[in-house]
Amino acid sequence: MSDNHPNSRLPGFYRAPLDERQAELARQTGLSPDELALFTSGGITPAGADRIVENVVGVYALPVGLGLNFHINGVDRLIPMAVEEPSVIAAASNAARMVREGGGFVAKADESIMAAQIELREVADAVAATAAIAAAHKEIMAKADAAIPQLVEFGGGCRDMEIRALSDRRLVVHLYIDCRDAMGANTVNTVAEALAPRLAELAHARIGLRILSNLADRRVVRVSGRVPFAALAGEKSVEEGAALAHAIEAASRFAEDDIYRAATHNKGIMNGVDPVVIATGNDWRGIEAGAHAYAARDGRYRPLSTWRVESGGLVGQLAMPMAVATVGGTLQVHPGARLALRILGVTSARELAEIIGSVGLGQNLAALKALAGEGIQRGHMALHQRAVSRA
Ligand code: MEV
Repeated sequence: MSDNHPNSRLPGFYRAPLDERQAELARQTGLSPDELALFTSGGITPAGADRIVENVVGVYALPVGLGLNFHINGVDRLIPMAVEEPSVIAAASNAARMVREGGGFVAKADESIMAAQIELREVADAVAATAAIAAAHKEIMAKADAAIPQLVEFGGGCRDMEIRALSDRRLVVHLYIDCRDAMGANTVNTVAEALAPRLAELAHARIGLRILSNLADRRVVRVSGRVPFAALAGEKSVEEGAALAHAIEAASRFAEDDIYRAATHNKGIMNGVDPVVIATGNDWRGIEAGAHAYAARDGRYRPLSTWRVESGGLVGQLAMPMAVATVGGTLQVHPGARLALRILGVTSARELAEIIGSVGLGQNLAALKALAGEGIQRGHMALHQRAVSRA
């Protein structure tokens, strides 16, 4: 561990017995074996679970493994991944090692802006209603902030408004809330419900639905990563690395041209994203919904990442909504989720989003490398076989 960050490059970690891996994790993070022991019981007790959802009869655990080799925005990170699919964690770690050789992932998350949607029905005159709401912009912003004083105290609050006409008789008002380190669902829904009566009055309309949108297109994480040909080649020649890079670009173009392939390409990204979202107690259904709506935002479903060969290397770019939290919600009640955040060493929701986006892009690289090279079955089935034979 250096500067409070671990060394994520741990050769031989995968071969070490479980107890040695746990000891290494303790060494790297400074967490005590007692603290880390939370993971041996699934991170939550039945009594704890009973405080979260209804009709509890127990808890359901998933394997948690560490994604290694990640170097993101100049810092090493150990990535806790909760996932049942063999080969996902090994593949992410391999890809992260290659990207590391190109300098690591560079990621940037937007501010934590979520939209509250207020639907207005039976609008008398959509043009006049739009003008009346726009004229009351200042009042609406102030009322929105007044509904969420705690968030405003933490530096968040209502930042913007947008009025969208769905038809001559139906408007949707979006209020954009900066949720800081929270996911924001409760806050945003509070704003939607608080503002709906005034908006309906201004629009001479009936109130429709009042709820956040999971298409968090103002809360996007953008990630890039570069892999030198030599890193792609491994033991082989640089020329073979270059050929593989071109094959990966071709695989990317296949997803860009075909929705059937784009769905699977994006599934490969979610193979990296979801395990971290789950380990950190975040709402993976919301992340999935946002990802796929974003992929189709211009009317055609597209890959969330693309890969191109550029001057001696392969460069990947990913952009997707990433509405994740480091405070509130499940985190308050799930000790395992809090532990995962401590392992990651994150201090803000945006930092967490940048890490998760990087894991998504790395996972995607690993899948495309296998598909463009030896095929997915060899590596995947070897690990699958290991899981079955140990069962
Ligand atoms: C398997 O879980 C994920 C892949 O199908 C992703 C892809 O095809 O890009 C390998």
